[in-house]
Amino acid sequence: MLETVKDLLQEVKEFSPNSEEEVEVFRLKFLGKKGKMNELFIAFKNIPNESKKEFGQAINMLKQNAQEKVEEFKGSFEAEEKRKQIDFTRPIALNNLGSRHPISLIKDQIIDIFNRIGFSISEGPEIEDDWHNFSALNLPEEHPARDMQDTFFIQTDPDLLLRTHTSSVQVRHMNNNKPPIRTLSPGRVYRNEAISARAHCIFHQVEGLYIDENVSFADLKQALLYFAKEMFGEKTKIRLRPSYFPFTEPSAEVDVSCNICSSKGCNVCKYTGYLEILGCGMVDPNVLENCGIDSNKYSGYAFGMGIERIAMLKYGINDLRLFFENDVRFLKQFSSL
Ligand code: PHE
Repeated sequence: MLETVKDLLQEVKEFSPNSEEEVEVFRLKFLGKKGKMNELFIAFKNIPNESKKEFGQAINMLKQNAQEKVEEFKGSFEAEEKRKQIDFTRPIALNNLGSRHPISLIKDQIIDIFNRIGFSISEGPEIEDDWHNFSALNLPEEHPARDMQDTFFIQTDPDLLLRTHTSSVQVRHMNNNKPPIRTLSPGRVYRNEAISARAHCIFHQVEGLYIDENVSFADLKQALLYFAKEMFGEKTKIRLRPSYFPFTEPSAEVDVSCNICSSKGCNVCKYTGYLEILGCGMVDPNVLENCGIDSNKYSGYAFGMGIERIAMLKYGINDLRLFFENDVRFLKQFSSL
């Protein structure tokens, strides 16, 4: 009898299944209701007393080993079965992939274009003080041009406000750096405007500043022509109209030729053939002096544009509010795939 148990122990030891079915057959053979173990426990009753101890130990060991084998292999073929059913050549499901926001896309494009002619990035705070947003930029208190940009002031501190343009970053940059300066300031700006298809209380700007010896208006014009061609296409023309900004003199507004109608006139360009994209000018010597730069030695140009405006022209979007509503049906259209 003991010999039989020893043989079974050996069989259990050598058991190495190849499938889930084999494990189940093994389990039934040893541990099932009509299995070997039950047979042996029944036979145990008839074992002479003096052998009971040895036989008992042997069948307990057999049971334990059989259980361990089942534990070891049970379910281990399931994962493999599932793996066999996977089709690894199937393309991955892309339907829930996100897309970049058009404002980010255009911002990066503008940065990239100016990077190529030596502009680097500077950033600053969105909550700004009066000096950096206005006074340093030749807009002293009570200056009527402050009304050009309707401002959100911080109620608890009349000196603080939400920046109305990123020119404030340029002031900070001039304070902390010596010419030559070539810097680009992208960022979010705030103005107290009623929200409509054409205006919003939050929008994004990129402003540029170049200061060195002998910087001229021709340099400004050339840089802007280069930008317009890179952004809107090789055939793009620009047009500068005299304008007014307190921090630049002379100042201009820049239009690009309408690429929707090839300047023939359409409802987007209001039959003028041109679209306004930015403001610019030669930095007013007062601004340079306010920021610790010798205006006799240095001159510079500055420009500023709204990213939303460029994105609207580039993508043919006719309502500014779409940029802020986060409607996936709108955003999905800018997926890069
Ligand atoms: N800061 C101006 C604005 O926000 C834009 C601008 C920048 C104009 C630099 C001229 C020069 O309207």
